[in-house]
Amino acid sequence: MPVQQHTVIIGGSTGIGLATARQLLALGHRVTITGRTEQRLEAAKNELGGDLAVLVLDAADTDRLPNAFAGIGAFDHLVLSLGSGKGAGPFASVSLDEVRQGFEEKVFPHFATAQAALPSLRKDGSITFISAVTAQAAMPGTAGIGAANAAVAALVPILAAELRPLRVNGVSPGVIDTPWWDFLTDEQKAPVFADYAAKTPVGRVGQPQDVAQAIVFLIANSFIDGHVITCDGGLRLVG
Ligand SMILES: NC(=O)c1ccc[n+]([C@@H]2O[C@H](COP(=O)([O-])OP(=O)(O)OC[C@H]3O[C@@H](n4cnc5c(N)ncnc54)[C@H](OP(=O)(O)O)[C@@H]3O)[C@@H](O)[C@H]2O)c1
Repeated sequence: MPVQQHTVIIGGSTGIGLATARQLLALGHRVTITGRTEQRLEAAKNELGGDLAVLVLDAADTDRLPNAFAGIGAFDHLVLSLGSGKGAGPFASVSLDEVRQGFEEKVFPHFATAQAALPSLRKDGSITFISAVTAQAAMPGTAGIGAANAAVAALVPILAAELRPLRVNGVSPGVIDTPWWDFLTDEQKAPVFADYAAKTPVGRVGQPQDVAQAIVFLIANSFIDGHVITCDGGLRLVG
């Protein structure tokens, strides 16, 4: 009987993290998901069932992270699926405060969480970071948010080399229909998604399970290291 793997997903109560938890549970993993909102975590627990633990944790509260990981105990794989929408807007006018906030909400929590996880993470396990297509496509209006996502992607090859034999990979999603877009009303979202679907070579926006499949693949394949998979339906090719 194979040993059960334990995966911790930071930002696992909705969207891509939740879809990843669902797929890993179906594969027999034990999964711990974290998020800042207890209600969302409880809803996820009720929806997914299985061998799932939940933990209220703000990854931006970096001082709390070492104790939080000590409480979680030993695990095999870490997925970082929290993010920020801050820092988007035309370069000439985007507020530096917003750009700074984007880094505070994405780059530092990713960095600090991976750092704090190391003592409890299996030495030859894996970390999967989530960047974004804005880091690689030349999309006007994304300089701030793209720079934050590029910073996350930059960690991948460096940490893969430095933390060996731990594998460190990433996924760079395109436009994915998740609560990340809830800053728009449904009426606002529909034309934005229709526009992206028309522009995207595969003819649709992504679903969280599309990205979750890429994350699960990176966790499972023990010979892929230092790689960022773009999962964007080809959007980066057409910006
Ligand atoms: N959706 C897209 O179109 C898209 C495109 C490219 C990249 N991405 C990236 O994909 C990742 C996942 O996004 P998603 O689309 O799945 O968004 P989502 O549905 O909003 O999920 C974000 C998850 O992270 C949690 N979270 C946020 N801030 C946190 C913090 N400081 N500490 C702990 N948990 C936190 C959220 O729960 P709480 O709010 O309750 O904490 C939630 O569980 C993000 O890095 C995002 O930037 C998304």
